[in-house]
Parts: sequence; C-alpha cells; structure tokens
Amino acid sequence: MKRPVIGVLTWREGRRFAEPVYFRRLIKAGEKLGATVFLFAPHDVLAGGKQVRGYVLDHNGKWQAKLFPTPDAVFDRYRYTPTQAFRDYVAFRRNSRFLYANNRLANKWRVHDVLTRDPRMHRWLPETLLYTSPAILTRMLARHALLYVKPINGTGGRNILRIERTNAGYRLLGRDKQRAKVTSLLSTVPAVQRFVSRWAKGDRYVVQQGLHLELMPRRSVDMRLLIQKDGSGEWSITGHAIRVGGERSATSNLHGGGKAVPVPAFLSPRFGAEKTKQIISDCEQLAHQTARTLENHFGRMVEFGLDIGIDVEGRAWLIEVNPKPAREVFREMGMSELYQKAISRPLEYALYLARTKGQDNAGSRNAAEG
Ligand SMILES: Nc1ncnc2c1ncn2[C@@H]1O[C@H](COP(=O)(O)OP(=O)(O)O)[C@@H](O)[C@H]1O
Ligand SMILES: [Mg+2]
Repeated sequence: MKRPVIGVLTWREGRRFAEPVYFRRLIKAGEKLGATVFLFAPHDVLAGGKQVRGYVLDHNGKWQAKLFPTPDAVFDRYRYTPTQAFRDYVAFRRNSRFLYANNRLANKWRVHDVLTRDPRMHRWLPETLLYTSPAILTRMLARHALLYVKPINGTGGRNILRIERTNAGYRLLGRDKQRAKVTSLLSTVPAVQRFVSRWAKGDRYVVQQGLHLELMPRRSVDMRLLIQKDGSGEWSITGHAIRVGGERSATSNLHGGGKAVPVPAFLSPRFGAEKTKQIISDCEQLAHQTARTLENHFGRMVEFGLDIGIDVEGRAWLIEVNPKPAREVFREMGMSELYQKAISRPLEYALYLARTKGQDNAGSRNAAEG
C-alpha cells in the first residue's frame, strides 16, 4: 500500500506557522506511524484541491514547501484569531471537500445551547444565559451569589469577569484582554451593571452560574480532560490533569499562571479514595456524552479538551469545550508518554479514516456551522 499522506490545516505566513513546536512533534509522530504529514494553509490549496502546497521538514529541520496530491485525510488545526485570515479560513472550510478528521465547532454560546438540548447533559451544565441586556445580569445576580461573565469567542482566560455577592458588596475579579488582573468592589446592582456593560463591549458575552472551585484557598482549581478518537475510530480518554490557578486569580488557565498536577493525588486527600474514583468516573461519563452529543450535531470530530469544574462538594460541571486543545498539561506534569500519545492519536484516527475512506458513521452530518 502506498504511504498515506495527512494534511494539517493551519495559519501560515511565509514560513511562519501558528504552532511551530507542536507541528514539529506532530510531523515526527507521523513518521513513526509510517505516514507523511504536511502543513498547509487555505491559500496553499491549488487546482481545486487536486494539488496542495505542503510544508515538511528538510534534513536540517527547516520548513520546506513541496507539491502534494490531494491528502488522504486532513486534520484541521486552524485556531481562532479575530482576523481576516480566520474569516477566510471559515469560508474555505465551507467549500472544501477534503476528508476531514474534524469539523468546526460553534462559539461557546451555541455549544452550550446544543448541549442543553440533550437531557443527558443537564446534570453537568451550569446555568448560562446570553448577555443581551442588563436585565439578564439582574436576573442572574438574584439567582446566584457567584457569576462569571465570559466572551463567547474568548480563549486562554482573557476578558473573564467573576462577580461575587458578599456582605461588603459586589466583589469583581477579572482578567482583561492582556490577561492582567482587574479588581473592583461595588456596592449597588446598577454600578455592577455599568461595569459589566463596559466590560462586555466589542464581543458577545454569556453570564454563567459561578462554581465554587476553591478546593484550595483563594485559588481556582479545575480539571483539563483530553478525549480523543483512537486508531479504530472510537472515542477514548487520553488523560486528565488538575490545573491550579495562580493566587487570587479568577481563572486556572496555564497561561494565567496555573500549574498542572495529577488528578487522584490532588483529589483523594480532600474527598477520600472512594469518592475520588466516583468523581473521576463521572468526569469520564461527562466527556463521552459531550463528545457524542456534539459530534451528532456538528459532524465528525477528532478530539476535545474539556475544562471541568469540580466544586467543593465533589460535583463535576462542564465549563468549556475546546475543539482544538493544547496538551501541555501532560508535559507540565512530566508525563512524556501521555504527551506523545496525545500528539499521536489524532493522526492515528486520520489514518483510520483514510483507510476506511470515511465510512465510519461519525460523518453522517458533515456540514460545519458558520
Ligand atoms: N462558571 C464558572 N465558575 C467558576 N470558574 C469558572 C467559570 N467559568 C470559567 N471559570 C474559570 O475561568 C477559566 C477560563 O474559563 P473558560 O470558560 O475555560 O474560558 P477560556 O476560553 O478563556 O479558557 C476556567 O478554566 C475556570 O478556572
Ligand atoms: Mg478554558
């Protein structure tokens, strides 16, 4: 059989790529699997997809362009940026007919909405409303003593605001566009409304029930779980980690100063061995159900990085679904085998797809949303 060829769709300008370190590792993982893996951007697709200008590593480890025929499968790794290049990518995906290992997911609000329509998901979803008017905020403030206000297109813990009702007034703690910390103490609801309407300029936001994730004093703690398709086309949990946020931080993202630690070691001193097992198994159920529900709606997917909140009672909540996740938590914890597996698996699935020509039933709905 001829050597399979997998394309990886990403942002490129000249020989600069969005995630060069990860892509080097991905190409090496492809070699180990006996496949050729190349990088390409939308403007590298030539002759209506019959030819693709792909980038591979030469003997000196430098990026080099070569012409390839239509790849056997494509792994879409184009990540969101608020740019024209991204809008071009969205248009490209709509018309592109490659055999894709993954489709696009919608924004946080649409994803939440799709999940809410599946009753099997209800027990894991914090109450979330689209912030369409100050009245939404008033309603949520009356229902929850802790709220989060988040942009529906945000990533990396930016523009996130935490609002807590206390005896002293409303305590606000946030991360702005540059992830710098912002704090404020306001005494009235109208003052909070004014603050939020300024905060929420420039994008659409959701208001979400705040979860009590202070498993450590003054820190946000949550779980990052990676669920991926394997080489036989099945969903499988690759691994998980607890992320501990920086002190007095509203978020636990690694970019915001968070640390990654193994899940059982972190949870068992607090909950005991038995309950810890139950919590982990609940998170795994959550992950499988989320993957199934989203794939049914959005079409074939290859991996999800889930942000799962585990509250002080030990209850698991789905905070965010990342369709193009990082896998750095495993490297942070020194788990290099798991890290390698996390890199290799999407390629193994792409190879499975190429072999079976996309005959798995995951492709039943293949149209990505806009
Ligand atoms: N409803 C919430 N309750 C408590 N903490 C939250 C909530 N929403 C977000 N967080 C904290 O903020 C972090 C970032 O939020 P997330 O929704 O994952 O956005 P991003 O796309 O910026 O990562 C989470 O990992 C968690 O630590
Ligand atoms: Mg997140």
